[in-house]
Amino acid sequence: MKSIKSLKNIKGKTALVRVDFNVPIKNGKVLDDFRIKKAIPAIDFLLKKGVKKIILITHLGSDGTESLGPVIKDFFKISKFSKTQIEFFENVRKYKGEEKNDPKFARELAGLGDFYVNDAFSVCHRPHASVVSIPKYLPSYAGFQLEEEIKNLSKVVKNPKHPFLFILGGAKFSTKMPLIKKYLKIADKIFIGGALLNDFLKAKGFEVGVSLVDEKSYGIEKIIKNHSLIIPEFVLVKNTAGKFIEKNVQDVLKTDNILDVGEKSIKELDILIKKAKLILWNGPLGKYEAGGGGTTKKVLKMVASSKAESIIGGGDTVTLISEMKMEKKFSFVSTGGGATLDYLANGTLPGIKALK
Ligand code: 3PG
Repeated sequence: MKSIKSLKNIKGKTALVRVDFNVPIKNGKVLDDFRIKKAIPAIDFLLKKGVKKIILITHLGSDGTESLGPVIKDFFKISKFSKTQIEFFENVRKYKGEEKNDPKFARELAGLGDFYVNDAFSVCHRPHASVVSIPKYLPSYAGFQLEEEIKNLSKVVKNPKHPFLFILGGAKFSTKMPLIKKYLKIADKIFIGGALLNDFLKAKGFEVGVSLVDEKSYGIEKIIKNHSLIIPEFVLVKNTAGKFIEKNVQDVLKTDNILDVGEKSIKELDILIKKAKLILWNGPLGKYEAGGGGTTKKVLKMVASSKAESIIGGGDTVTLISEMKMEKKFSFVSTGGGATLDYLANGTLPGIKALK
């Protein structure tokens, strides 16, 4: 991959920059601008190098119907860049050719600029026109944010420090299973939380009541006895009366809803955190939108105060870190959700390969 640092003679040229400003928005306001902030250094660098114009391409939402208005407003407010040199292309998913990776559409996009920069790690797992095909038609470079993601996440994939603790939460078992299988060989311990925990408990024969579970098992029974897996013994449930109670997993009732890992299990996790030299974390431990999830904040504080190198990824956890203003307390916070998972599982992504 060529870095934007190697760009020469770009005075007067137009840069086409793929960013990922797919950020949470509520009532017309950006709730978390972590991804937007991360794209600013590369844009600043290009402006200082004398480009005439920068065209930013992003998607917002999955179907292209959302207006970029709030994102544009937030971007200019926090970056303080002048509007004269920076333009936004429309929400790129509005065009069918984007997701279809249509070569004609990619050529049209490429025609807008003199060179292309990918600074959108978090969408690099999508083989879409603005991610993988523009590099076929324009000289292409990696932005600082993309380089930083690869530099940090590759530390986990290749040559990790030990003891290596992997904390894995969230839901969507299907996307996490390849990761669990791979990291059972690489990490020393994998601590399971989030809705994933319900699947493990169910596979172990425990009652999980009305908790969220994945319908398919994805071969969970083959790994369940692995000693590197830490399946918490205590959970926080919400009962039919709407009360939150910490329970041993053996005591969960048919009517209970498991919404978080229990405090007693978090104390055991703290011992592992203190011993670890490398901590990788993806996905929240509990469902905070349903009133659980308090442990995610607690464990984030434990990880922040540990001496281990800490690498955190996954949209929801990152939004929480921004809310808690703790970004600087970790060695690296990834902008990616699905992209981070795919990179950790495969060591590369379609958008990265396209730049080579
Ligand atoms: C993300 O939020 O993970 C990226 O922006 C990709 O979005 P998508 O899941 O809609 O492709």
